[in-house]
Amino acid sequence: MDKLVIQGGVALRGEVEAGTAKNSVLPILAATLLTREPCRIRDAPALRDVATMLRILEALGVRCERHADGTIETRVEDEGSVEAPYELVKTMRASVCVLGPLLARRRRARVSFPGGCVFGPRPIDLHLKGLRALGVDLDIEAGYIVARAERLRGAEMYLGGSFGPTVTGTANVLMASVLAEGVTRIEMAACEPEVQDLANFLNAMGADVRGIGTPILEIHGVGELHGAEYRPVPDRIEVGTFLAAAAITGGGVKVTRCRPDHLGAVVERLTALGCRVESGDDWISCARRGRLEAGDITTLPYPGFPTDLQAQFMAVVSLADGVSVVTEKVYPERFMHVAELGRMRARIRKEHHMAIVLGTDYLSGAPVLASDLRASAALVLAGLVAEGETQVRRVYHIDRGYERIETKLQALGARIERVRDEDGL
Ligand code: UD1
Repeated sequence: MDKLVIQGGVALRGEVEAGTAKNSVLPILAATLLTREPCRIRDAPALRDVATMLRILEALGVRCERHADGTIETRVEDEGSVEAPYELVKTMRASVCVLGPLLARRRRARVSFPGGCVFGPRPIDLHLKGLRALGVDLDIEAGYIVARAERLRGAEMYLGGSFGPTVTGTANVLMASVLAEGVTRIEMAACEPEVQDLANFLNAMGADVRGIGTPILEIHGVGELHGAEYRPVPDRIEVGTFLAAAAITGGGVKVTRCRPDHLGAVVERLTALGCRVESGDDWISCARRGRLEAGDITTLPYPGFPTDLQAQFMAVVSLADGVSVVTEKVYPERFMHVAELGRMRARIRKEHHMAIVLGTDYLSGAPVLASDLRASAALVLAGLVAEGETQVRRVYHIDRGYERIETKLQALGARIERVRDEDGL
């Protein structure tokens, strides 16, 4: 296993290119199950989660080819298999996205029930509710969702839960409904750019999805879909992480090949924390000179502040002047990074779904353990500014969602190395 070893104290400066959004690519790859014609997904990032999705597709009879330029070509060769096995689903919850397209095309699916994760229970009741509304018969057997549908019929449904809409749940129902008979109307659909991207890809395949980007999606079922070529959107979470790196180290970073219009809430918060943010059509930059000001962070479904940037911004405000309150309204238990940031001298007290952060004047490098993808990014950010050496262990988490993070950070001046972790942690 690898670890990242960081010598803190360098203000990051320079330009970096954003990668393609993992959370777009995963459901879009699942959507290629909806046609027997070849599909080409361009600029797919070389991430562990993408590799996992390709293995699932291969288990489902899809021939997948990955080219050096990042293009992934898929072609369904055999529609006989309908099982997404536990060994793969347990490493990546987004695997559940094959449920909708399998039902749409093959009328049957056996998908391992995704478990909880380190940041709490992650139910899929809304996915199941939406699929049932379309006429799917569902049961849980031996840890698997076993689903069958003689025919899928368009339906009206409300897909909101206690924490708002569901991103992969909307994706699943959307993919099941594009080939259903009649019209489906999803109220309280997730509006995330990655859901919009999936809907645009489906339309490029010949689907008729309307209301894209709004909380009400209307899907007019079509007889069949054809192949398509598509380049998914840039990764707004990776972009936000680089902007946070500029903010926390007091440098200046420009991120190119990105969509600033997907980052409104993040820009608003960076500005409130005392950073200067500028942007053009496809670039955004963040710079900081003076002290960071304290500011509250409240996560919300899009277009609110993304929960996937909560940990990184908690690292940032841990060095701000004053008290900041971080409120998690999407995953109330997503605070695994609090204790590890504490090992680096951050002063954070967790209270239910909130964390109260008392700004400190410096962080101190330490060996820390990454607990999940975004928490590891927060520890890397803290390490970039901490005094002395930080070792972030269990970096396989970070490899799920950030492509070559150490190479990109090195290009911005960071002293960061990936080394083998002899302790095997
Ligand atoms: C997706 C993202 C993840 C991000 C999350 C929230 C992918 C692959 N992953 O995850 O990075 O952190 O959106 O933006 O795109 N919920 C229910 N019932 C359900 C489904 C969800 O109550 O059936 C709850 C969840 O527990 C959570 C909230 O709804 O509190 C949002 O979850 P959801 O949008 O479904 O997250 P994911 O799609 O799993």
